[in-house]
Amino acid sequence: MPGTAETLTLEQLHVRAAALWVELAPSSVVWLTGELGAGKTTFVQALVRAGAGEEARSPTYALVHEYDSPGGVLVHVDCYRLRDPEEALDLDFADLQRRGRLLMIEWPERGGAHVPRPDAHIHLAHGDRDSVRRLERVR
Ligand SMILES: Nc1ncnc2c1ncn2[C@@H]1O[C@H](COP(=O)(O)OP(=O)(O)OP(=O)(O)O)[C@@H](O)[C@H]1O
Ligand SMILES: [Mg+2]
Repeated sequence: MPGTAETLTLEQLHVRAAALWVELAPSSVVWLTGELGAGKTTFVQALVRAGAGEEARSPTYALVHEYDSPGGVLVHVDCYRLRDPEEALDLDFADLQRRGRLLMIEWPERGGAHVPRPDAHIHLAHGDRDSVRRLERVR
């Protein structure tokens, strides 16, 4: 529910991602925000596991990752390394959204105005122990 924050272990984060997955209509956009190491990519990988039934590949330095799923491709865009929001134009978000069963955008604030609005927005933060994270459903 928007506005409520929960403290989650890694295992609980996967359960939370699976619950979000069933709610997402085709071509949904999910934003992942939060500080470095807060668990954004981990949450993306949990959504990929829920939706594609496969392990997500380990993160690389590529900006865009695509995963096949029965309902269509799951797209993960990591905007962290965009030097300038204009670079986001080259990513062609409209096409990614059209083709994607799900478009997951990490560091959307770095993509500026070209980033599509989210259907769901998950904000993550460090918890009081290294093994937990705070998750807030912003939208
Ligand atoms: N409860 C938890 N939820 C999510 N990640 C956790 C949790 N506990 C430990 N971790 C660990 O924290 C790390 C989170 O890294 P991750 O790459 O997902 O962060 P990130 O937000 O994508 O960082 P960056 O901004 O650098 O891309 C992983 O090694 C993960 O295993
Ligand atoms: Mg990341």
